[in-house]
Amino acid sequence: MSPLIAIDGPAGSGKSTVAAAVAGRLGLARLDTGAMYRAVTLLVLRAGADPGDAGQAGELAASMVLSLGEQVLLDGEDVTAAIRTPAVDAAVSAVSAHPGVRAELVARQRAWAAAHGGGVVEGRDIGSVVFPDADLKVYLTADPGERARRRVDQRGAVPTGLEVAEAPAEALAALAARDAYDSGRPTSPLTVPDGAIVVDSTHLSVDAVVEEVLRHL
Ligand code: DC
Repeated sequence: MSPLIAIDGPAGSGKSTVAAAVAGRLGLARLDTGAMYRAVTLLVLRAGADPGDAGQAGELAASMVLSLGEQVLLDGEDVTAAIRTPAVDAAVSAVSAHPGVRAELVARQRAWAAAHGGGVVEGRDIGSVVFPDADLKVYLTADPGERARRRVDQRGAVPTGLEVAEAPAEALAALAARDAYDSGRPTSPLTVPDGAIVVDSTHLSVDAVVEEVLRHL
């Protein structure tokens, strides 16, 4: 049985980069649960549904066929870029706040870990709700300004297909809004899980963060 490592934190804290590096170093599979909430959000937007409509979002979540790997395949279509547009960013917090959507995706996340016998799982509620008995829980954070800067750097390099990269001030405002929503929702809010190590990556290189995580394993 491989270890189960939970990595939580706000948008732009470096979770994906760190999770990929830790998984690579340990030879573990990695699951980006944010991509799952983004996929449901894309379906909601494409259906012309209201992101605040719990019923429709729950039905779309339950019926989607999603495969996460190098590419994100949603009902057979490569949506790797389409789930990372500003439109999805703006709606994903509302969609992910619905308990029905969360129940469906949490069940899929637990099934994924059981099938892989462990792995590195990143998100907002992984150490607090999905895997409270994880072998290692990490809460990754960074200053909001630094997180916004990373976001713009990342998006500038990744063609979204729909929109150009946001300006830093807009990115900062969008991140702050999403942080507030994700931390304030009643179901599974973003929080530092009990027993988590907290790593502030503002002034740390990716390698330094990865070393810090591995040191605790
Ligand atoms: O990590 P990310 O920015 O791609 O996540 C997108 C959104 O999905 C985030 O704003 C909140 C939601 N999310 C969640 O509610 N629970 C998770 N485990 C992962 C993401």
